[in-house]
Amino acid sequence: MLKNTLTYFVLLFNLIQCLLTEINGVSPIPAFKPTLRHLHAATVIDDKLYILSGMDDTIGGIVGGTQFFYLNVSAPFNTQMPLYWHDLTSKNIVPPQIGVTAVKGGADNNTLILYGGRNLTNIESKALVYAYDTQGNSWNIPTISGENHIKRRSLTAVVDYQGKVYLFGGKLLEFDSFVNDMITLDTINFRWGKGSSTNAPSSRVNYGATLLPNQNIIYIGGGNSLNESLPLDEVFIYDTNNNNWSTKKTSGLIPSNRYGLTAVLGLDGEQVIVYGGLGNKNIIINPEESLYTLNINTFEWSIPKITGNIPSCRYMHRANVIGNYMVATFGVGYNITEGDILLLDISDKNEFKWTTTFYPPPPTSAPAPAPAPPSTPSKNKSVVIGLATGFSLLCAFTVGMFFLYKRNKNRKVKVNTLHIPNGKLDNQSGQKTVETTNKVDNHDEEVKQV
Ligand SMILES: *[C@@H]1O[C@H](CO)[C@@H](O)[C@H](O)[C@H]1NC(C)=O
Ligand SMILES: *[C@@H]1O[C@H](CO)[C@@H](O)[C@H](O)[C@H]1NC(C)=O
Ligand SMILES: *[C@@H]1O[C@H](CO)[C@@H](O)[C@H](O)[C@H]1NC(C)=O
Ligand SMILES: *[C@@H]1O[C@H](CO)[C@@H](O)[C@H](O)[C@H]1NC(C)=O
Ligand SMILES: *[C@@H]1O[C@H](CO)[C@@H](O)[C@H](O)[C@H]1NC(C)=O
Ligand SMILES: *[C@@H]1O[C@H](CO)[C@@H](O)[C@H](O)[C@H]1NC(C)=O
Repeated sequence: MLKNTLTYFVLLFNLIQCLLTEINGVSPIPAFKPTLRHLHAATVIDDKLYILSGMDDTIGGIVGGTQFFYLNVSAPFNTQMPLYWHDLTSKNIVPPQIGVTAVKGGADNNTLILYGGRNLTNIESKALVYAYDTQGNSWNIPTISGENHIKRRSLTAVVDYQGKVYLFGGKLLEFDSFVNDMITLDTINFRWGKGSSTNAPSSRVNYGATLLPNQNIIYIGGGNSLNESLPLDEVFIYDTNNNNWSTKKTSGLIPSNRYGLTAVLGLDGEQVIVYGGLGNKNIIINPEESLYTLNINTFEWSIPKITGNIPSCRYMHRANVIGNYMVATFGVGYNITEGDILLLDISDKNEFKWTTTFYPPPPTSAPAPAPAPPSTPSKNKSVVIGLATGFSLLCAFTVGMFFLYKRNKNRKVKVNTLHIPNGKLDNQSGQKTVETTNKVDNHDEEVKQV
């Protein structure tokens, strides 16, 4: 009898998974669930958004510290639904670290280059760089020629079109001091180099930075050793062709001081989109003041016209431009109901839109017709919600029946046998309730930027 019940249960579970898979654009119930995290790495390589490292401050530090996973961004997804993360954790060799930074590099532009960070366990990794070959699916610690340096953390790596990474500032792993020099890494020949520090901005961590079309890098905001957020009334430009710094005074609607923010280049190549961050004395930034654009010709700040539901202002997140969207991942300061991923549709530079549905860009190899959208988002969503609700009800019903059955008929059954399917369900609902919010107040030193 028990065996029958178990079989019934497993069949039902599989059936619902299959049903969910059938709906276009909706992933099956994900087997892998990432923990919350901030100051992690998030890099897009060949239609995959790879995520690893960082710290989960809600459940105590290193939980999920070795998780390594990706999201297939050539398929549509909805941020309000469980996301189908592909789990690569078993391949990961990077120890739990916070304050890492990563770029896409290597000779074929398909290697994930992870730099820096601070250990979250007593295994301190002195390796400066870990490289993940996305074709061979393997990690290694590359041998790098040139002058070594002390590992840094809480900086933002920017890669140029020649596969050279620029590593500015951050905090030294040893001595705990803030720095403002520029280190470079050629990810094709694996060689360290040094950029210029003349006229460099003051020492800082957790600033926003991005490459501009003219191969200059723009550096915005950040935090300093006095626990202060730095002003955005000036921004700093590193010219990678001539290796020199310049400072630009900004005008317009200048955002308040902030650190733990992100900067990405808009699709028109003429504006930088700055999102999130934490204010001076760790003041939470008003959601209405979480998103700004900076015109890179006039250095004038604006608050763009935005539709959609404005999310709470997260910080220590990461942001990438994927297709028509700025995709922000994880971070601190958000209600889990907003989802771990935020999508800002930036396709219309005159009107951005916070949205929950991602439609992939047409494949680059075949410029032919774009894939037909799965169905209208609202219809799709309601089907999905209906099914998800149905699923939950069925599961609840099944578990209920199962317990009744167990209590009334079969007190001799072994506990561990009983709990196999039941445990699975508990985990799924349990994970949801554990992750109520990503707490803003926390004692992690990185959040207080020391
Ligand atoms: C990603 O999604 C696309 C479109 O659904 C699919 O063709 C492709 O096989 C998927 N890739 C992986 C690695 O899952
Ligand atoms: C990091 O590693 C060092 C050296 O092993 C150790 O002293 C320190 O306590 C570790 N940090 C954490 C957070 O475990
Ligand atoms: C790597 O890809 C970027 C676009 O993501 C491109 O601009 C750059 O030229 C590529 N670099 C190499 C070395 O192929
Ligand atoms: C910065 O904040 C940390 C943690 O709150 C504190 O220990 C440290 O003394 C502060 N440093 C300064 C210079 O205020
Ligand atoms: C950077 O170097 C180039 C070439 O030497 C020069 O034209 C430019 O004025 C320099 N910029 C600054 C800010 O010094
Ligand atoms: C999260 O958002 C939901 C829906 O707006 C709200 O009911 C809930 O109270 C929020 N939770 C927290 C901890 O703010």
